[in-house]
Amino acid sequence: MKQMKYFLTPLFLCLLVITIQAQTSGDKLKIKQDSMFNSLAATPPMGWNSWNKFGCKISEKLLREVADAMESSGMKDAGYQYIVIDDCWQVDRDSTGNIVADPVSFPNGIKALADYIHGKGLKLGIYSCAGSLTCQGRPGSRGYQFQDARQYARWGIDYLKYDWCSSEGQKAEAAYKTMSDALKACGRPIVFSICEWGENQPWKWGKGIGHLWRTTPDIRDCYECKFDWGGVGVVNIIDSLANLYSYAGPGHWNDAEMLEIGNGGMTYDEYLTHFSMWAMLAAPLMAGNDLRSMSPETKEILTNKDVIAVDQDSLGQQAIRFMDMGDHEIWAKPLSKGEIAVCFMNRADKEWTLDYNWQKNTMYFATQVNVYKKVYAIRDLWKHKVIGTTASNTKQIIPAHGVLMVRLSVQK
Ligand code: GLA
Repeated sequence: MKQMKYFLTPLFLCLLVITIQAQTSGDKLKIKQDSMFNSLAATPPMGWNSWNKFGCKISEKLLREVADAMESSGMKDAGYQYIVIDDCWQVDRDSTGNIVADPVSFPNGIKALADYIHGKGLKLGIYSCAGSLTCQGRPGSRGYQFQDARQYARWGIDYLKYDWCSSEGQKAEAAYKTMSDALKACGRPIVFSICEWGENQPWKWGKGIGHLWRTTPDIRDCYECKFDWGGVGVVNIIDSLANLYSYAGPGHWNDAEMLEIGNGGMTYDEYLTHFSMWAMLAAPLMAGNDLRSMSPETKEILTNKDVIAVDQDSLGQQAIRFMDMGDHEIWAKPLSKGEIAVCFMNRADKEWTLDYNWQKNTMYFATQVNVYKKVYAIRDLWKHKVIGTTASNTKQIIPAHGVLMVRLSVQK
């Protein structure tokens, strides 16, 4: 018995050491996976998504053509990177549970498409759902999260939009965490876009689980509108995001929804507001139009590098609506290097004759900006020129539903 005890003690110690070592290397792996995941999306993701324009009418051919257009139109140069296939690419699961892409619309499969897109220096995104069915009734990921994540990694997927239809009583935070864990463990960096329409306040739990989260139901191609089923217009979305600025930052963004610019439902000035305000809100910029046939105006809006620079600023701060005068609003977004972007937004159906005295209203939240002590040059980000300084009033006619978007930099 005594001998047995002597024999068991070293064995026990050995097992203890092995267990501790395994635990430590497991912890190290988890820390590595988490830090790789958290380093993605340091600035709001930019790209294109198939849903707003094409719905279920998608194919490998379309996606390849969009990738070509992304390059030839100047969108890639302007910073757009991800090409995201939304719902309707998936038809089934095979006998081992692997998700199957539609063999008719994607005859060469997703891997071949990913290779083509990567060959252009772009990235590929895909769509799934936390429920057993997607919003269009295709197979969702419930019960297959880790298997799907590994498949996405094998295909070369770089971005996943994850929806919330047929969620069947699941708790949103837990459901999104499961998919997040699966992506972290899949061996490939994949940006995770949470799309539960803001129903469970994802801004409160999404950081560390995903990189962006929707805050509203689906966008509609209108300035101000609300549909029975929840669809909302640009201004409605802006209002929903107004108080969420403290939740946005590098690696975790409030997703204001995909863009409608170029889809024809709004006026030129309304589309300027749409793009300007998405940049002010540090929102992901996912074009939702047909990139193969853009009008010069649409291209001019989507590729405005001055406005995109505001969206992509490394400070990652979302704008604050610091003056709300009913139909007239002033938003300000502190930028890195002591600069600030300011957007005068005219919600009215008639012109706004602006006469703005920079000394009158303190931007209390932007401590690095001081219009009393320093003179700032004011650059109009749509006219691409300096229109004055903060030493004198800014006078402009802002059209109905339009904006004046400027950037203030200390005058040298
Ligand atoms: C939901 C999402 C949309 C789109 C569709 C696809 O409505 O919110 O953005 O992905 O599903 O079915």
